[in-house]
Amino acid sequence: MEASRRDFMQYVVGAFGAVAAVGAAYPILKSLGPSAASALQSKVDYDVSQLKPMDVRVTSWKGFPVFVMMLPTPFNWNGPVKNDKYKNHNRDILGNHNVYAIIAKCTHLGCIPLWKPDGDPAMNPSNIPVFHCPCHGSIYTPWGDNISGPAPLPLGIPPQALNGNTLEIGTPGFVKKFWNPYA
Ligand code: FES
Repeated sequence: MEASRRDFMQYVVGAFGAVAAVGAAYPILKSLGPSAASALQSKVDYDVSQLKPMDVRVTSWKGFPVFVMMLPTPFNWNGPVKNDKYKNHNRDILGNHNVYAIIAKCTHLGCIPLWKPDGDPAMNPSNIPVFHCPCHGSIYTPWGDNISGPAPLPLGIPPQALNGNTLEIGTPGFVKKFWNPYA
């Protein structure tokens, strides 16, 4: 009885957090203007020609919110890693690609993490760029590897290819298969 009440409260807290996070992301989503139909498309082409290093944009693919990002080259990231079987999981999948897409959905209860390009006070060192989930504080690396907080798994990664300035999300390329931690 107590456990189910606690589960319910966690759900409520998570749901409110998700609403807050979506609210924060809404202006970005609105500016991109994906239609309801395109949000469900299995292939989405994203023009990355306007991205600058450390930029993160939001789009959607198959109903998932997606971060499209560009890292500087070279990019030295000296943050912590989680020492479990998923250590550097996403970083290894994404290899040396500095333009890529990851699913913008926390693997804890589904909130949209916030990009902190200048670092986060919750981290040590506090000046390394991370994603911070506003709901319960999970922290992810720029590749979406979970390194702190209750998130059990790295963020999802859609299959994707880079063709000139077009990131083809949903097309097998440098990422061939969907890493889907939400199934
Ligand atoms: S939804 Fe709980 S930490 Fe992200």
